[in-house]
Amino acid sequence: MSAIPVPADEARRAPSATTWDAWQEEGRSYQIVTDTELMHFVTHFPIRCGHIAVDVGCGNGMFSRQLHRFGYDVTGLDFSDAALSAARRTPLPDVRYFRHDLNQGDPPGLPVHGIDLVVCRLVLPFLNDPTAWVRRVRDRWLRPGGRMYVVVPIVGKGAVQPGGMTEAQISEVAHGWAHSARYDLNRSSAALALRAAST
Ligand SMILES: C[S@@+](CC[C@H](N)C(=O)[O-])C[C@H]1O[C@@H](n2cnc3c(N)ncnc32)[C@H](O)[C@@H]1O
Repeated sequence: MSAIPVPADEARRAPSATTWDAWQEEGRSYQIVTDTELMHFVTHFPIRCGHIAVDVGCGNGMFSRQLHRFGYDVTGLDFSDAALSAARRTPLPDVRYFRHDLNQGDPPGLPVHGIDLVVCRLVLPFLNDPTAWVRRVRDRWLRPGGRMYVVVPIVGKGAVQPGGMTEAQISEVAHGWAHSARYDLNRSSAALALRAAST
């Protein structure tokens, strides 16, 4: 998705789970995973079979299925029942989906400091406090040296959330990691490859 189409009356607040359900049911599609995106991904994220990945705001499971192909053990989280139903239509070994609102704290049963990779694709601008949430993932979810993959639409300085982030907001998200790389996926979306400190 280059920019998520948010109706004018919703432009200043994040869409609810019900709104996402409706969008899912009407077949709205988002930025597809291209070969170029995957090529960058494998460059920045060395693949280790059996590593634990969590795909937050997994939607219909498009990227979760890709992680499965790479050999990850995958948990997809989303607060939209319609999205989760769509994801579960393709059952795969070592892939499971749970309903969870990312604005409501950590998911039950989170293996604290036990996750190798958190994927956050086209979701971050919808969270109440994206920067604080990313820091919590870094400091509590990930194992030492764990990684995070973020994809976010880029918006101009004057644009309101939800839907995208300004360059300044993207830089803030990338701040404080042991290693961070930022690259453009296309003209309107950026990717961040982030790595937590090893100790
Ligand atoms: C634009 S879609 C992206 C889906 C998927 N990550 C992809 O790349 O195709 C955003 C997804 O985030 C989910 N989402 C938005 N806010 C959320 C929240 N607070 N908690 C959990 N999921 C959320 C929506 O239900 C939706 O499925």
